[in-house]
Amino acid sequence: MQAQVSPVPGAAPTRNAKLLRWVAEIAALTQPEAIHWCDGSDEEYDRLCGELVAAGTFRRLDDKLRPNSYLAWSDPSDVARVEDRTFICSKSKDDAGPTNNWVEPGEMRATLHGLFKGCMRGRTMYVVPFSMGPIGSHISHIGVEISDSAYVAVNMKLMTRMGAAVLATLGDHGDFVPCVHSVGAPLAAGAKDVPWPCNRDHKYIVHFPEDKEIWSFGSGYGGNALLGKKCFALRIASVMGREQGWLAEHMLILGVESPEGVKHYVTAAFPSACGKTNFAMLIPPPAFKGWKVTTIGDDIAWIKPGEDGRLHAINPEAGFFGVAPGTGYDTNPNCMEAIKADTIFTNVALTPEGDVWWEGMTKEPPPKLTDWTGKEWTPGCGRPAAHPNSRFTVSATRSPSIDPAWDDPNGVPVSAFIFGGRRSSTVPLVAEAATWDEGVYMAATLGSETTAAIVGQVGVVRRDPFAMLAFCGYNMSDYFAHWIEMGRKVAMPPRIFMVNWFRKGEDGRFLWPGYGENMRVLKWIVERVEGIADAERTPVGFVPKHRDLDWQGLEGFAAERYLAISAIDRSMWKQEMPLHREFFDKLGSRVPPAMRARFESLAGALG
Ligand code: GTP
Ligand code: SPV
Ligand code: MN
Repeated sequence: MQAQVSPVPGAAPTRNAKLLRWVAEIAALTQPEAIHWCDGSDEEYDRLCGELVAAGTFRRLDDKLRPNSYLAWSDPSDVARVEDRTFICSKSKDDAGPTNNWVEPGEMRATLHGLFKGCMRGRTMYVVPFSMGPIGSHISHIGVEISDSAYVAVNMKLMTRMGAAVLATLGDHGDFVPCVHSVGAPLAAGAKDVPWPCNRDHKYIVHFPEDKEIWSFGSGYGGNALLGKKCFALRIASVMGREQGWLAEHMLILGVESPEGVKHYVTAAFPSACGKTNFAMLIPPPAFKGWKVTTIGDDIAWIKPGEDGRLHAINPEAGFFGVAPGTGYDTNPNCMEAIKADTIFTNVALTPEGDVWWEGMTKEPPPKLTDWTGKEWTPGCGRPAAHPNSRFTVSATRSPSIDPAWDDPNGVPVSAFIFGGRRSSTVPLVAEAATWDEGVYMAATLGSETTAAIVGQVGVVRRDPFAMLAFCGYNMSDYFAHWIEMGRKVAMPPRIFMVNWFRKGEDGRFLWPGYGENMRVLKWIVERVEGIADAERTPVGFVPKHRDLDWQGLEGFAAERYLAISAIDRSMWKQEMPLHREFFDKLGSRVPPAMRARFESLAGALG
């Protein structure tokens, strides 16, 4: 039994009483061997990465091929978000709603107390102060993560504004969201650690929305462990946004500038691993001379009404935790440039030269690799070399496409909201909602095929309203109502669009080339906002005719092919409508009447 640790207040780099009290309380509960307050410096990052190398968690990549970069392989049981182990513990079950797992808060606190008791024995407890959003911005909020994982601490350095500057802003009396994380693997005295400690039997990702508190146990991976991301910036922030009149969304933010210098900012919500990073870093096709796309964020947007009558968005994060497979110079050159150096890779394959590889990085796979499980890999061996949810962590400042305003504390004005899912049929390439409420309906009924970003079955169509199914920290029906209200709150609400890059032909291949070619759709969207592009009115919204899109440089894409991905097939939509009804029925009595009314009018229009 180790001695009980309590932090010496003099040694802590803060006099914030709430913070000191909380750190002491968690240390007493979890019994770490040491406490380290992160200052966020480069020296600290280098030292912790060195310790992770010594522990076998990290491998330093070849310094010529991939300077200052590391590779981690996780435990095979800990590779993605665990939605079935994610809980919203509001006082009332109805406030979590039918789409969230709920446990009575007192009962959950008792469970957590048991799990966290002594869970950091033999480990260092890192205290990680972070700001979601530019430090000091009126849209930003501070969190502090306590974690027994150095991997988490170094990832938080790349993903957030982290360290001493945040404590300075917090001051003696500032408030913060407490986030407690443990890999759930205490080390007995003298025992040897494993490269990726986690708890195979018990995982809990828990949110207390009324207390604005996060507790995560048992996983070291991604959104389960980097608590600033999904836990704070989406689940807790969505609750704060509803209380305070703003929005926390699973959205990328990009800037798009025409050759004439007209610039718009748009945000786009796609479910996990459905193309946000790619769209945020899009490079227009050569024929679109003078058009420029710049990146503000690739995963999360916080959106607040501004004094100018528009909605303004910030990216609360400061880095990208992006899907590796499918990322290559052919699909996302900006991203490939960003991850050339100073990057942490997780669960990708290792080349004999000490570089990384994953499916889709190059057309030809290398002749020999070590796969993400540490086994020898050759092309055609039948296994993927990288885990399908393998990821890179990189600072936003490394991105060549970063927008000059990405760090602006006032955010950028939003001209359009885009919602998209992964749908092999039914949903057209693009459609614009005729009204705000119709747009909210479009987003509320978004469907998408599941991906490897979540533990569970891949490729099943499920309703993923606003791409927020797994991230809304309160009742989904109340969230729809909040959206309806936000549209009324601003004089100039953004226009709402839906897109689908994923229609497939009978041969099972994608019909739309996607990636940079998505510029054609983006151009139409900003021209709709400008009032200069045409469209046809259909029951589901305004859809561009072939002649309404710019086809320069893609003349080989036949008009019939475009028809196949843009036509509204009434018989297919009639099969879709019962799924909408079923979903609303599942949501129950709190669904806003405007949604039911739109269901009836859409069903009526489809005949
Ligand atoms: P999270 O980080 O999980 O929230 O997801 P994300 O939406 O940022 O995912 P990302 O952009 O990394 O999506 C990657 C997947 O989408 C890969 O499988 C890509 O091949 C695929 N993808 C991205 N853009 C396109 C596109 O335009 N067309 C097609 N067919 N696939 C795309
Ligand atoms: C997602 O799953 O939507 C992600 C990755 O962006 S994670 O941070 O793991 O949630
Ligand atoms: Mn995401």
